Amino acid sequence: MTATRPRHRRDRSHIARVTSREELIYLLSRASELEHGLACIYLFAAFSLKNDVSEGGLTPVQAEMVRRWKRRLSGVAVEEMLHLAQVSNMLTAIGGAPHFKRANLPMPANAFPFGIRFSLEPFSQETIERFVCYEMPEAGVLTPEQEKVYSVIRARIIEAEGGGPVDSMAGGAPISLGTGKRAAISEPFEIDFRTVGEFYHKIETGFLHIPEHELFIGPREAQASARYLDLSGELLAVVDRASACSAIDMIIEQGEAPSAAHPDAHFVVFDTIRMEYSRELEAAQGRGEAFDPVRPVVSNPMTRFYDDTSGGTIVSDPLTHEVAELLNISYDTMLLMLLRFLAHTEETEPELEHLSRATLRMMTTVLRPLGEALAMMPIGDPRLPGRTAGPGFGYNRDVHLLPHKTSAWVFFAERLRGLAVMAAALRKRVGVPRQVDEAAAALEDLATQFAPSDRAWNRAAEVKQFARIDTGKAPAITPELNGPYLVTNVENLVNSKGERLQARPRMALCRCGGSANKPFCDGTHARIGFTSAKSPERVADHRDTYTREALTVFDNRGICQHSGFCTDALPSVFRVHTEPFIDLSAADKEAIIQAVRRCPSGALSHALDGIEHRDQEREPKVTVSKDGPYRITGGVEIPDEPRAEGASTEHYALCRCGGSKNKPFCDGTHWYIKFRDDKN
Ligand code: SF4
Ligand code: FES
Repeated sequence: MTATRPRHRRDRSHIARVTSREELIYLLSRASELEHGLACIYLFAAFSLKNDVSEGGLTPVQAEMVRRWKRRLSGVAVEEMLHLAQVSNMLTAIGGAPHFKRANLPMPANAFPFGIRFSLEPFSQETIERFVCYEMPEAGVLTPEQEKVYSVIRARIIEAEGGGPVDSMAGGAPISLGTGKRAAISEPFEIDFRTVGEFYHKIETGFLHIPEHELFIGPREAQASARYLDLSGELLAVVDRASACSAIDMIIEQGEAPSAAHPDAHFVVFDTIRMEYSRELEAAQGRGEAFDPVRPVVSNPMTRFYDDTSGGTIVSDPLTHEVAELLNISYDTMLLMLLRFLAHTEETEPELEHLSRATLRMMTTVLRPLGEALAMMPIGDPRLPGRTAGPGFGYNRDVHLLPHKTSAWVFFAERLRGLAVMAAALRKRVGVPRQVDEAAAALEDLATQFAPSDRAWNRAAEVKQFARIDTGKAPAITPELNGPYLVTNVENLVNSKGERLQARPRMALCRCGGSANKPFCDGTHARIGFTSAKSPERVADHRDTYTREALTVFDNRGICQHSGFCTDALPSVFRVHTEPFIDLSAADKEAIIQAVRRCPSGALSHALDGIEHRDQEREPKVTVSKDGPYRITGGVEIPDEPRAEGASTEHYALCRCGGSKNKPFCDGTHWYIKFRDDKN
């Protein structure tokens, strides 16, 4: 998507050239703070949105729309992190270092020279309008008609911020620090840019005018490579003037491109959501219905008062406070790992891949579920009844580069182990949302991966320690709403080749079909908008009975997974496309019983002389079938999940392609949609 934006001829004569390395490093560091802060703000708004009709205030159609907004907001936040990585590469290229320091939120309107507060706010009309203003194109890019619409929005946001001057030259962009003397009070260099776009254009002047052979002094090999990050493959190595300008172009393009040719530009994404929200509110009001897509989260939740913020709401509920601390430390750990990745030294290629994958997993399978959980947990302030917390992204400690490889990796391992233990203990507490289970499973996996082999608490010791946490608890699988299967105490996990996979006491198994690390969940379900609801069009839950002499065979088409075991073994008894499905006269009793016993879904069972034999005696086991469902045997519990008529609790088949109409159970859809998992 780089360099596709038509070059606008803008009057940027008010922007003074950047002429020194030092000023360029300063501005890029501020750009890092900006991108980082925006990522947190957009994520917070995404977490404040509901996920399902079960949360109330939404019809199924509205819930689908709100989940789409959630995904788009999260997608923009991911791109802000890409921008942060891109700016880090620019810093490294010119002899600086990646910069992750930022003040805690909220930050006042004059913290950045754009005049708009940096604050963690739940989704609302005002919040989405503020987002539109953050990403507003520079003056002259929008048409005069658009300008009229957005100047009203800008004026409204400025007024909500407590008023302030609006610069008509900058398309009505607000000014807070302004230029000249006022700017010099707060910033060490001249502030003569008025929008985010102008800010980056000012940075561009440094790359354009400082002699190229003098400017690029940083080690190229220390920069982050796009091949390890799943960030749309758009991370550029910055090695010269041309690549630096392309990187800046990409950032501006992704942010403020206002045309339909860039449907993913942040400005367009936010503006589309703003209009959809406003239309839906109006339509619902017209119908006399409630439309309430937002969880009751407070603004700027924090676990302690920070001396670098202008306010916030303390999380007073003790349990919520613990989960909030878990999120903050996980966030801090993720940043340390990302920082090490962006400024690595002696890491090998496999180590770099490991570090980048683990950092992404921290975002998608730890921070995301914890953020969702916190948005549904009480803030605990008696003055705010019914209000929930949300993720505060608190900077409890200084985040700085761990400069020595070996000690850095031991440090990550220690942190991950501590976090895994903390999460495992928390998930057992009454009132903790299920999403904490998902985070606990991911943290255990990461802690095990990072455990060094040369310490007392090596990988094997770690697995043992985690196993003790749920000792004695029966093996169980809990399907998370719109998320993975959370599996506890199933040691026997095998793939279709009969190979034993490394099972952990708590695992999150993918059921959306999208994970790149099957059978384990990697958080893809949230990105692709997986939903776990059953379809009204599923095959009816109805048990048929076929009897011949002493043998009765039961069949419930509602849970058949179409494995074909029965039709392949005895096609004359189990008849494809023929009614009735079963003819007990076509084979002898023993052969039929053997075929029935091999049915993996539990759709078939049998009785002899009136005594039903539905279950078998087997060890608890999860088998990842070839391009098909999880086959569960040995009575692994699946609590709170209504079972079909006559279904076995000892064996059943769970959907793992994401397409079943009868989720969580398999209905054979994997075959129709050609689901593939070449690894297992
Ligand atoms: S799941 Fe059972 S009933 Fe369905 S095709 Fe397979 S063996 Fe036959
Ligand atoms: S990646 Fe989480 S359920 Fe598929």
